[in-house]
Amino acid sequence: MNFAIVGPGAIGSLWASYLIQAGHHVCLWSRNSSPHISIQRDECPAIQFHNGHTEQLAQADVVLVTLKAPQVQHVLESIAPHIDKDAILLLMHNGMGTAKATQTLFPNNPLLLATTTHGAYRPSSTQVLHTGQGQTLIGAVNQKGTQCEFLVEVLNHALPQVHWQHQINQALWNKVAINCAINPLTALHQIRNGELAAVHYRSQLDSITTEVALVMQAEGIDADAQHLRKTVNDVIEATANNYSSMEQDIAHQRPSEIDFITGHLIKTARTHGIDVPVNEQLYHAIKQIEQSW
Ligand code: PAF
Repeated sequence: MNFAIVGPGAIGSLWASYLIQAGHHVCLWSRNSSPHISIQRDECPAIQFHNGHTEQLAQADVVLVTLKAPQVQHVLESIAPHIDKDAILLLMHNGMGTAKATQTLFPNNPLLLATTTHGAYRPSSTQVLHTGQGQTLIGAVNQKGTQCEFLVEVLNHALPQVHWQHQINQALWNKVAINCAINPLTALHQIRNGELAAVHYRSQLDSITTEVALVMQAEGIDADAQHLRKTVNDVIEATANNYSSMEQDIAHQRPSEIDFITGHLIKTARTHGIDVPVNEQLYHAIKQIEQSW
């Protein structure tokens, strides 16, 4: 198949490398203006990818969008004229809230959302390390998307495990819950994920997950506060040495994904008349830092 990877950061580079190795045609669309981009994954030989070719983008059967949530709308607007009307759009990023604008831009394309737990790290712009095996869950947003379940087999062949989710919102909310707990706190205190295991953070993490569980339940999503809290603890332990993506964004003065994580929670809470004061306080603290730059 022809794949286009839009936003080849760590996760996008990982997929590009595994998809080409599985025999697919893969092109990149990056803000880097060079016509070729080389990616070396782990100890494998480096591979050259075409980058920024509109003709190749137009031939893509699948457009895998691995941009960060805040960049999705504006980059997709810029490439929309080059995307085939039958191309499958697959968005894979932290947070929620980009599907609606994407559907408006591409009303006739199959639209899928994905969440992944693979660990990837880019020590340089031409290298990617696959730092942790994970799984990828994908599911449909629109009617045409429901006909794309076959993609699970294609992707699974390249980078397992991939599973189809009939309720992708459940999987996305579970991930949002983890990100609401870990990302703002690690970003504010500039600490590794593992440091959140300290007693000092316990009551704040309890309140965050209780608030998230209430909003999820109001949305009709299965959620149990204690279960979410345990999952958060498991992720803190499993990723103890990592810096979260938001910690990194704040450390490097880049706009974070807060609007699509805690911001999405707050917006959804409002529609149900639910108060989420602890999450609101964290949201404003991150926004304040971003506005101070
Ligand atoms: O955003 C991140 O960094 C990751 O989603 C997670 C799970 C919090 C691990 O660092």
